[in-house]
Amino acid sequence: MGEVEFDDVTFSYEEGKEVLSHVSFKVKPGENVALVGPTGAGKSTIVNLISRFYDVNSGAVKIDGKAVDEVTLHSLRSQMGIMLQDSFIFSGTIADNIRYGKLDATEEEIVNAAKTVCADPFISQMEEGYNTPVKERGSTLSQGQRQLISFARTLISDPKILVLDEATSSIDVQTEKALTQGIQAMLKGRTSFIIAHRLSTIRNCDRILYIDHGGIVEQGSHDELMALQGAYYHLYTSQKEAM
Ligand SMILES: Nc1ncnc2c1ncn2[C@@H]1O[C@H](COP(=O)(O)OP(=O)(O)OP(=O)(O)O)[C@@H](O)[C@H]1O
Ligand SMILES: [Mg+2]
Repeated sequence: MGEVEFDDVTFSYEEGKEVLSHVSFKVKPGENVALVGPTGAGKSTIVNLISRFYDVNSGAVKIDGKAVDEVTLHSLRSQMGIMLQDSFIFSGTIADNIRYGKLDATEEEIVNAAKTVCADPFISQMEEGYNTPVKERGSTLSQGQRQLISFARTLISDPKILVLDEATSSIDVQTEKALTQGIQAMLKGRTSFIIAHRLSTIRNCDRILYIDHGGIVEQGSHDELMALQGAYYHLYTSQKEAM
């Protein structure tokens, strides 16, 4: 389970300014989808509608065949893992921050989740390990480390559907590797939507939706879209040159 469908969805934040126009697509349970495209294209808007942060103007967003406005917000959000660009860390220990995804998690489950997303090495290196205190706005953790902790928290909550807004910030090579591996581990067997900036993440997804001007301009696998030599091809080749 975890099928997501956009059925002729039209949406605007403000009257008269359509942000999504007649968008339709269907994502199979377990399928990993990357959303790419220029700034302001409508990528975040699409994932916001899946989490029902807003309601559509017309059409329907459906999960397992049921419109998201026909179920309670609680039941909708309890099946979803939502990770936004700025990872949320609260004051407490690192273990507390991971346990937040499953309040009755054992220590073993916490360590296993951290291992799966490649967060364990940096946590274990700290003097107090999993009992290291962290602060909401403290600078004790890098942005990459904050993301890894939020990955572990999400993984332990075992969501059916994952939504990830990937961070763009430059991070060190080692954390970058851990993040890439951590993302792959989380995606496995889960329906997921990633607003991706890293080429490695995009390439590994089953399907890429290229969004522009509030609609799907191109969709397919990395190889299919490269062969098409359209918008995605140009994005990919220009990013590759910049590296
Ligand atoms: N809360 C909001 N209220 C009004 N307009 C909004 C709001 N959020 C986004 N928009 C507008 O909707 C359009 C699509 O925005 P969206 O955030 O979905 O783009 P995006 O593809 O995620 O861009 P980026 O890559 O910069 O994150 C833009 O024109 C944006 O200005
Ligand atoms: Mg966005």
